[in-house]
Amino acid sequence: MLVALKIKRFDPERKPAAWWSNYKLEAAPGDRVLDLLVRAKDELDGSLTFRRSCAHGICGSDAMRINGTNRLACKTLVRELGSRITVEPLLGMRVEKDLVVDMEPFLASYRSVKPYLINDEPLPADGRERRQSPAERLRFDDTTKCILCGCCTAACPVFWADGEYVGPAAIVQAHRFLFDSRDRGAGEHTAALLDMKGVWRCRTIFQCTLSCPREIKITQAIAEVKQAIVLGK
Ligand code: SF4
Ligand code: F3S
Ligand code: FES
Repeated sequence: MLVALKIKRFDPERKPAAWWSNYKLEAAPGDRVLDLLVRAKDELDGSLTFRRSCAHGICGSDAMRINGTNRLACKTLVRELGSRITVEPLLGMRVEKDLVVDMEPFLASYRSVKPYLINDEPLPADGRERRQSPAERLRFDDTTKCILCGCCTAACPVFWADGEYVGPAAIVQAHRFLFDSRDRGAGEHTAALLDMKGVWRCRTIFQCTLSCPREIKITQAIAEVKQAIVLGK
């Protein structure tokens, strides 16, 4: 299949404003959008810039807006999109070059929820690790699947309107530790979620859930975090 690939470009060292590049590439049945981007860069335009690492949906580095939806390029089959594909950087994040956005504010929000186990209590006397039943582990299983790709936060209209919103990805991380039976740091995980930039800015728009490549029930997780805060978990 011959594919018309349209890519939004930006390079402040070349032009002050963004522009579009158009490429025509032959796609095999198993090709993913990432395969087309790699071939466009290797064969047609070496200046084209994008992030990718694992190429298997694990690292989260190649999140971008593909035909209007946030997706991982390495998990998006060309044949599902048809012969016209438009690729843009994630919305709401500062573009550094072409499809590469500045992830630092996103990662600062991630760090703000202290995304690690907090428990200063002594370990059990028998010297074994802190134990957890399968049901307790299952309680937060969904939110352990996050790969920090940014698709959810960059799909949220509240985040677009106000880049100050901590965003769904950070709340997913708070959920992962709030509902871990071994954790004792609820107040520390939620401290950054209580002000005007926090969890109450969520308007239950669901775009985050629809865009998550890991199919995490993000909006539900956000509702559970809100409830935990209200109930003083
Ligand atoms: Fe990506 Fe999903 Fe994690 Fe959001 S919750 S950063 S969309 S993996
Ligand atoms: Fe935004 Fe998701 Fe809430 S799209 S408003 S974070 S439900
Ligand atoms: Fe790692 Fe796509 S390159 S998730």
